[in-house]
Amino acid sequence: MNRRKPPVHGKFVTLEGVEGVGKSTHLEFISGYLRDRGITVLVTREPGGTPGADEIRNTLLAIRTEPFQPMAELLLMFAARALHVDNVIRPALAAGTWIVCDRFTDASYAYQGGGRGIAASVIAALERMVLKGLRPDMTILLDARIEVGMARARKRGVLDRFEQEQDEFFNRVRRVYLARARREPRRIKVVNAGGNLTDVQAEITALLDKRLAQWK
Ligand code: TMP
Repeated sequence: MNRRKPPVHGKFVTLEGVEGVGKSTHLEFISGYLRDRGITVLVTREPGGTPGADEIRNTLLAIRTEPFQPMAELLLMFAARALHVDNVIRPALAAGTWIVCDRFTDASYAYQGGGRGIAASVIAALERMVLKGLRPDMTILLDARIEVGMARARKRGVLDRFEQEQDEFFNRVRRVYLARARREPRRIKVVNAGGNLTDVQAEITALLDKRLAQWK
């Protein structure tokens, strides 16, 4: 009898947080940590991650004079996500590659739900249709006071359509992120991103060490 080993699925790790919390630096740190342990990693981001989804990203971030309805924003986020999930994420996971993704559906609940005021039930309906049960195995939420993050983000130069929002918008986004972490404490781990880089990375390392030991 041909006894094949069952296919080993990759793990799906996402990184979340408001602008300016150091996501890019920590994304590189996390993927480096995993590669050092012999894991094949694909780093990607949302909105984006495929040519078509990147075009939608440009549409979403562009500054425009035309009113841009929250529902249009939400649907475009999920249109980009549909391409990303079916063309990149699912095939990679099935091939045993781990995904480290800069933002995912938690961002839609935080920004379009918390920030723009769309009901969570509407977002959940799209999530069910588009993701069909796909969820991150682990989410690291980088959390810092909005004043800290936005001061960093605004220093970076030209602001996109989201970065132009006021602090109150980002406070609502942050509150939803933290509420989701309270509701799903096993999946979403909150890291205080307000401290110095060494402390933040030590905290991320401890979380990954623990999770990798559980996944062995
Ligand atoms: P980035 O600057 O982290 O690449 O993300 C682009 C913007 O898109 C950021 O301001 C957050 C926003 N966003 C949403 O509003 N909803 C979503 O579902 C995602 C993935 C991102």
